[in-house]
Amino acid sequence: MINGISKLQDFVHEHRSNIIVLADKHTLQDCYPLLEEELLHFIVPYGEGYKNLNSCEYIWKKLTEMGADRQTILLCLGGGVLCDMGAFAAGCFLRGIRTALVPTSLLAMVDASTGGKNGVNFLGFKNYIGTLREADYTFICTEFLKTLPYKEKVNGYVEMLKHGLISNADHFNRVKYLFLKDNETLNEQLILDSISIKQEHVSADFRDNGIRKRLNFGHTIGHAIESYSLAHSEENCELSHGISVALGIVVESYISAKKNGLPESELQEITTVLQRIVSSVEDIPTYESLEPYLIKDKKNRNDQINFSLLNKIGESHHDFYIGEDTIREGIDFLQELR
Ligand SMILES: NC(=O)c1ccc[n+]([C@@H]2O[C@H](COP(=O)([O-])OP(=O)(O)OC[C@H]3O[C@@H](n4cnc5c(N)ncnc54)[C@H](O)[C@@H]3O)[C@@H](O)[C@H]2O)c1
Repeated sequence: MINGISKLQDFVHEHRSNIIVLADKHTLQDCYPLLEEELLHFIVPYGEGYKNLNSCEYIWKKLTEMGADRQTILLCLGGGVLCDMGAFAAGCFLRGIRTALVPTSLLAMVDASTGGKNGVNFLGFKNYIGTLREADYTFICTEFLKTLPYKEKVNGYVEMLKHGLISNADHFNRVKYLFLKDNETLNEQLILDSISIKQEHVSADFRDNGIRKRLNFGHTIGHAIESYSLAHSEENCELSHGISVALGIVVESYISAKKNGLPESELQEITTVLQRIVSSVEDIPTYESLEPYLIKDKKNRNDQINFSLLNKIGESHHDFYIGEDTIREGIDFLQELR
């Protein structure tokens, strides 16, 4: 992982004849100029609704038309959608060309750009097709955040809060205060600390068979809500990944209190921090509407639904298999907070 825009600019300058930039409308306008080099580039539509195999086919066609070969580096300039999809498409093209991830959203910096998970949604299920393959280069340049809309920053805050919740209470507190203050000046060190927490889990368990699963806290319910919303909303009106995970964190904190000893006072603290997000969501899906997605969750085993749960703020465990009644109660708890 390389930090700072000047290092990225040096890299781009050095490899300019081999780079093809994959961007979307927003990142082409706001982020591409910061590369300070005229490079081959093309755009894909933005939004979770375009994170699919059709877009990958489009990327492969464009790469072919542009004469990409084994020396090409696909530079993915965008948020988590574009980084996940671009890294997957690059990993398949010519059996794998080099990938440079240049995350431009807070969420992509602190989460999506680290750990090698890439892929696309399939038949309405989140990230169902993909691979585990580390990018060849990853650049963290917080300069890009200047143009990121606040509602997109919230998505990143949620994953940063999650990093604190699962393994570092102090990190949770520091992110919490910034988030509650609506403070725009996120300091770079806090971002790097979040990335380090993710990296610790990934390096201990790259294949996602053990401790890495704790990063999924909030995501069993979160992914089901996100998939449901994607299938039932107008284009680009679906609940974002971050908002869905925030709702998932509330439900899974409730389940943590029931099944893993999370103190009631800490459940209250977590819900208070996320209350603003919960109140902003008009329709929280019912258990019945989420069930088809919960059943298809990639982490399940023998039809049982897998969760990672907190035992206190800053500590978590993985591989809990939770029954329908408790999940229903958790969703009722979330509904009542609205
Ligand atoms: N691979 C992983 O480990 C991992 C982890 C967490 C999330 N994800 C994935 O990340 C995705 C969500 O990512 P996201 O929250 O970045 O959403 P996103 O990729 O949809 O980006 C959000 C919006 O912000 C715009 N944008 C991005 N950077 C900008 C900038 N600097 N200035 C102006 N506009 C900018 C984009 O064009 C887009 O419209 C989900 O698909 C999720 O599954 C992956």
